[in-house]
Amino acid sequence: MSIKVNKLEHIYSKGTPFEYKALQGIDLEIREGKVTAIIGETGSGKSTLVQHLNGLLIPTAGELEICGFKILPLLKNKDIKKLRKEVGLVFQFPEYQLFEETIERDIAFGPKNFGATEEEAKELVKKVLPLVGLDESYLERSPFELSGGQKRRIAIAGILVLDPKVLVLDEPAAGLDPKGASDMMDLFIRLNKEGKTIILVSHDMEHVMKYCDDVVVLDDGKVKHASDVKTFFEHPEWMVQIGINPPAIIRLKMMLQEKGWNIPADCLDEDTLLEVIRKQVKNHE
Ligand SMILES: Nc1ncnc2c1ncn2[C@@H]1O[C@H](COP(=O)(O)OP(=O)(O)OP(=O)(O)O)[C@@H](O)[C@H]1O
Ligand SMILES: [Mg+2]
Repeated sequence: MSIKVNKLEHIYSKGTPFEYKALQGIDLEIREGKVTAIIGETGSGKSTLVQHLNGLLIPTAGELEICGFKILPLLKNKDIKKLRKEVGLVFQFPEYQLFEETIERDIAFGPKNFGATEEEAKELVKKVLPLVGLDESYLERSPFELSGGQKRRIAIAGILVLDPKVLVLDEPAAGLDPKGASDMMDLFIRLNKEGKTIILVSHDMEHVMKYCDDVVVLDDGKVKHASDVKTFFEHPEWMVQIGINPPAIIRLKMMLQEKGWNIPADCLDEDTLLEVIRKQVKNHE
């Protein structure tokens, strides 16, 4: 079942002088079993939107349907706990998620909260650590003495350990080195192939192009575009309009087009682009 977002509005600090409408009526359908990127300028509402997917934020108006749950204004706490077993959210800032004294206890917190025994939880922690590129030497360390990238790995492990059906990742590659970031993306794609729906907030258009099926563009709390990834990258002007730097291959294509080369819109990978250039060079010979 797809995820449906219907006229979703979110107002922070409603009724105070700081009132701010961060989401202004979002209508959206996110396909089950796919990898969907949520992109947009800073402050466009990406984190606010994804925090609704596991009920961390509740709509001020409108509703969402996800994994058989309806998230409406005034949703009760007991419903939210069941939802969080199905939908795992990794925060943009891992510090917000980590709080236990040791990494082992931090990652074990979720499983224990959902009924695992101490022993079961410890076993699960040992299984999940290598998935995020860490080993058992981390178990007794404090999550607060780690680097930003290591903290992010622990935060991701703390959600993966719950084996959610839907994995929502708010800038999961931020703070990781390029190899760490692509390893992490490979892990998410593997989990997607095993059946998980992945929703990913990202500023990295190379990742979006390489790994995602669908793209949602937010602008000032509204959906500006929603399409499959191919259609999205066939319209580089959509990125330019909202100040996003297109991937290298698209920048090269735009540069060639400006210089008068005839590059078709659906030319989106190196091999196709090279072939197009080769043919046009030949025609000039
Ligand atoms: N707790 C809050 N209280 C009041 N306003 C908030 C709060 N959190 C976010 N906002 C405001 O809501 C808007 C959307 O914020 P949000 O964090 O969703 O943006 P974002 O697209 O995730 O940005 P970024 O790319 O910087 O992470 C921003 O203008 C922000 O200032
Ligand atoms: Mg954000």
